Amino acid sequence: MIFRQFFDQQSSSYTYLLAARAGGEALLIDPVQQHAQSYLSLIAQLDLRLVIAVDTHTHADHITALGALREASACITMMGEHSKAECVSARFAEGETLNIDGLRLKALYTPGHTDESYSLVMDDRVFTGDALLIRGTGRTDFQNGDAAAGYDSLFNKLLQLPDETLVYPAHDYKGWTVSSIGEERRHNPRLQVQSAADYVALMAALKLDTPRLMDVAVPANLRCGALS
Ligand SMILES: [Fe+2]
Repeated sequence: MIFRQFFDQQSSSYTYLLAARAGGEALLIDPVQQHAQSYLSLIAQLDLRLVIAVDTHTHADHITALGALREASACITMMGEHSKAECVSARFAEGETLNIDGLRLKALYTPGHTDESYSLVMDDRVFTGDALLIRGTGRTDFQNGDAAAGYDSLFNKLLQLPDETLVYPAHDYKGWTVSSIGEERRHNPRLQVQSAADYVALMAALKLDTPRLMDVAVPANLRCGALS
């Protein structure tokens, strides 16, 4: 398998490139618009063909590359079925599988950070978007976020995966690149709660600034990155 993790310094976002083999199909998760050309250069250098670009959810802190990548490569752009982005070419529902050359990513509906957030599960790893971060969880105070739904996604879905499952989030603000379900279960401070009510209270007590790019990024991302 070919696997690459890209970092966007401005928004501390991670983007992931996956392919089963050199010469084959490639998939990008959560690509950032300003890096579209670098992804495409690497994809060409690795002799890959981009077939799917997917966003785990509508991002508030950066502009998606979905539209730019579709224009440049004719790939399919995808989001979950709850997304309000009319621009995507296809949507997936919980339990559906994205398949590239036999690499399978299963969609898991994990609302909470937003009401349209999905995680993508492979045999040995999970791409959690902002549902589960390394030693953190995505905020639930805007974009139809809901801490009680987040608790359900975390405890009844993501933490049900095997402990050794690697966790690749959509962001990290400290430079940590990967964790595991077991590690997060034991050491993530947000997961040390006893009930959904505790989690709701914990999330309500956070005092967070609005993301700098939110007013630009959210409307643009509903158009797959087009600014107007
Ligand atoms: Fe987010």
